Amino acid sequence: MRMKHTRHTLTVGAAFAAAAMTLGLAAPTVQAAPPATSTTSATPSAATAPDIPVANVKAHLGQFQQIADANGGNRAHGHAGYKTSLDYVKGKLDAAGFTTSVQEFTSSGATGYNLIADWPGGDTTKTVMAGAHLDSVDEGPGVNDDGSGSAGILETALAVSRDRLKPAKHLRFGWFGAEELGLVGSKHYVDSLSAAERAKISSYLNFDMIGSPNPGYFVYDDDPALEKVFKDYFTKLSIPTEVETEGDGRSDHAPFKDAGIPVGGLFSGADYIKTPAQAQKWGGTAGKAFDACYHRSCDTSTNIDDTVLGHQTDAIAYALWQLAS
Ligand code: TRP
Ligand code: ZN
Repeated sequence: MRMKHTRHTLTVGAAFAAAAMTLGLAAPTVQAAPPATSTTSATPSAATAPDIPVANVKAHLGQFQQIADANGGNRAHGHAGYKTSLDYVKGKLDAAGFTTSVQEFTSSGATGYNLIADWPGGDTTKTVMAGAHLDSVDEGPGVNDDGSGSAGILETALAVSRDRLKPAKHLRFGWFGAEELGLVGSKHYVDSLSAAERAKISSYLNFDMIGSPNPGYFVYDDDPALEKVFKDYFTKLSIPTEVETEGDGRSDHAPFKDAGIPVGGLFSGADYIKTPAQAQKWGGTAGKAFDACYHRSCDTSTNIDDTVLGHQTDAIAYALWQLAS
């Protein structure tokens, strides 16, 4: 069910509730998107960061899988599954009170799209931005790469709305296209900003693969302050982390970093092999890739470790609630 039908659903829900009372039936639970103008707002801080329901994140991943199934098995740039994925994410954000915009670009002769979502309010000269790439490779549905990051930041954005967050700093979320063709969408986005607009982004956080089935807990070490925010979170959970070394600049944070914007992020591992020491501290299987289905047709909704997905999504919320305060 798309959130854009919320009003209709509420009407039906209310009618059902009234009928249910007469009939003695249980009323259905309807999760309405709160209006952005709500007066019961929350000031964010590390202490008030929500626990993001991993079931909701998984539900988005199920949608990405279905979209791939219905569109030739992928969600790649230039294929119908990409735009359908974008429409799904945009529908959720619009219903939750975000201001969304779709930025078009051309790559390899096909139109690509970035989705940018701004949460109204906060100091826009100090914008905190989180991003993920929404495209898969041609070979598969890309549920871990990078449905996981896309769903993780989507559900965090929806939590911002549920909490009616009133952050001191402005919050922005981005879903980039054509990452798999060479960071095309994120480069296009950063290039499209004026120097003044770039200067307003105080941090960019990237989430590309956060649900790897043989997981690791890797933190980008590009900016010490942003690295510390994530490390602090995992220290509280007593989960050891390592610095992300599986290819510097291999994802959408690179164009931001090149533009002088402080970047950070999380990663649960791709095609590198888990060492015995890593299996010791994180569990899983030594001698096997963190994600053996990386860039393959088997990167489906079963190619996800729910525990790492849950922890890394909670870490996104923790970082945003802290950085936006
Ligand atoms: N989408 C990235 C890619 O295909 C995945 C990746 C590999 C990655 N190594 C990384 C993402 C290191 C972040 C950091 O290249
Ligand atoms: Zn990726």
